[in-house]
Amino acid sequence: MTTVTLQRIDALGVITLDHPPVNALSRAVRAGLLARLQEALADDGIQTLVITCAGRTFVAGADIREFDLPLQEPHLPEVLAALEASPKPVIAALHGTVLGGGLELALACHYRVAATAATFALPEVSLGLIPGAGGTQRLPRLVGAPLALDMIVGGTRLDASAALGAGLIDGLGEGEPLALAQGFLRDHPPLSPRPTAVQTVPPFDPDAFEAQARGLLRKLPGQEAPVLALDALRGAWQLPLSAALQRERELFVARRESAQARALRQVFFAERALAGRNRALAKAAPPVALRQVAVIGAGLMGSGIALCLANAGLATVLIDTQPQALERGRATIDSYFSGALAKGRLTADQANARAALIRCETTLDAVADADLIIEAVFEDLAVKQEVFRQLDRLAKPGAILATNTSYLDIDAIAGVTGRREAVIGMHFFSPAQVMKLLEVVRTRAVAPAVLATALQLGERLGKTTVAVGNCHGFVGNRLLAVREREATLLVEEGAAPEQVDRVLREFGFPMGPFELRDLAGIDIAWRNRQGRGESLSPAERACDLIEQLHARGRLGQKSGAGYYRYEPGQRQGQADPLVAGLLAAHRQRRGLTPRSHSDTEILERCLFVMINEAAWLLEEGIVEQPVDIDLVWLHGYGFPRYRGGLLYHADQCGLERIVSTLEGWSAALAERGTRISPRLRQLAAEGRRFLDS
Ligand code: 3HC
Repeated sequence: MTTVTLQRIDALGVITLDHPPVNALSRAVRAGLLARLQEALADDGIQTLVITCAGRTFVAGADIREFDLPLQEPHLPEVLAALEASPKPVIAALHGTVLGGGLELALACHYRVAATAATFALPEVSLGLIPGAGGTQRLPRLVGAPLALDMIVGGTRLDASAALGAGLIDGLGEGEPLALAQGFLRDHPPLSPRPTAVQTVPPFDPDAFEAQARGLLRKLPGQEAPVLALDALRGAWQLPLSAALQRERELFVARRESAQARALRQVFFAERALAGRNRALAKAAPPVALRQVAVIGAGLMGSGIALCLANAGLATVLIDTQPQALERGRATIDSYFSGALAKGRLTADQANARAALIRCETTLDAVADADLIIEAVFEDLAVKQEVFRQLDRLAKPGAILATNTSYLDIDAIAGVTGRREAVIGMHFFSPAQVMKLLEVVRTRAVAPAVLATALQLGERLGKTTVAVGNCHGFVGNRLLAVREREATLLVEEGAAPEQVDRVLREFGFPMGPFELRDLAGIDIAWRNRQGRGESLSPAERACDLIEQLHARGRLGQKSGAGYYRYEPGQRQGQADPLVAGLLAAHRQRRGLTPRSHSDTEILERCLFVMINEAAWLLEEGIVEQPVDIDLVWLHGYGFPRYRGGLLYHADQCGLERIVSTLEGWSAALAERGTRISPRLRQLAAEGRRFLDS
């Protein structure tokens, strides 16, 4: 239900927008606003106007759902121009998240007052857009070019006190926004119209501005919108106002149709749909109340998980039977909180309260009161099974037993307990307090309430929480393994690791497969390969670069050398002639004549084998929906958001083309023990897409 009402309170005309859930500026809202504005201007009894919103927030932006439709009148810039031209003063009374078109609406008003908890941003670039209703022109006039740059290109969000300090708003306080506007009017008689657009941008240092812009763009490689947003912003001092507004609008309209904007919209809605599905599941099987959570193992992972729990206000017991390990864990936790305090992200009271939520213990019987126990010990099936045997004995009835394994068989872990229905996987990503992804791994016997509890906890921790089935590596690491295998085979055939890494970085990954391997550790890959034993195909076994690097003590960044060489204290690797020599000798031993690879072949080999494996994941029922695979790789593995996700990207490439390319490699794929997924073939044959299936 959408309503825009005009209410008269003495000489005040109050226009209230009511369009749940976030008062997005749909066509109906824009039309209603324009109509009520005209009524208010025609009413001689009204001297001043207030624009406010019902519900939890002021306008949170244009209506993103309309971006796939043709433009519909009245257009937002026209509505805002009418508002700004009002001969009666207009006050925006703000609360909640004043975002995008919502902030542009506020900027077109003559005065702005806000509730203390309000926040302000122009997040359009995160949707592949630029502000399209005057944001790039009015914002710099109020807050100056440097801050406008941070907000428009860098997505910086201001809280209300920062907004007041920057001159974005004119007043703030506790209480109802309408009452704040009335108070403001009382304190500032008589108010007269004060259009933002007629002001000029305050003077600034152009060289410093350009340096700041270059710095921001460097952090956003591959994204088109920030570059165009900067272009539009420069218009605020380089062009006459009407020309600058027109340029901004043209760029915005063109962006709506762009591939990047479409991909980013897809991700925006996919994330919200996932949260909705998790909520529905939690409703169907009421989750267990969590009063206390125990974490076993105080390594980087265990202490990171404890931090996540404490940050969400959960009483946590961190247990490690080795006192020194526990001490290191406590030190990690303390340094995290002192860092948060120093950076101003937490107050001293908040930091102390959260740190106090974590109690450290050295014996496993400290799990006795825990409602949920998350195991994060060494990645070895026998070690984990032993821990679970003990937990089964020590945990109270009804407690949930979760493992943070990243690829082991969780049914085999559950099988050693007498409560298989209470065992589940909760695969956090390192560092757990930073990474957004949580894979919740269903086991064969898991009870619905246990699954619902894990999903609900993930949401509470602020994670993108994806339910997946139990298989080697689950979704994320299973796909990572096929990409790494393909990348290694490319290198065996003659490509250089640095070429493969560059190609994947240019596609938009933050790092390439070999850089990632050096970061994660050659020893981890080595152990994994040892664990896979007979299941390695002959081609994989013969391509034993990991064993060769491991034998030379090249364990990756931690040992100063892996696929690359690292100068002390450097995280950026250098190509190493020693590795080139090792590769040449390896090829010679195997009788392989090195050949060169085009960048396209490298990219397609790495991505298409992942897409094929993803189709197998769907075939095996490991995920509920194709989009879940995309969310895992977007949030856990740096898949470029502006490409929409692995399977969204596959749909854009065309499944028929992918299948025919894979068919061209079928002999080589067979050597690696890989078959083309029948599901992928079927979708391609029917001309369908993953995300519609
Ligand atoms: N348009 C349409 N629907 C929107 C929306 C928008 N701008 N913003 C949020 N929604 C919907 C969500 O899809 C969700 O719907 P659902 O319940 O059916 O899944 C519902 O509102 C609630 O959203 P969240 O679950 O995200 O609720 P939160 O409370 O966690 O977050 C929020 C609220 C901070 C407003 C967040 O939704 C958000 O960041 N929204 C996007 C804001 C944005 O990017 N605005 C700029 C749009 S582009 C623009 O304005 C162009 C202009 O320059 C012309």
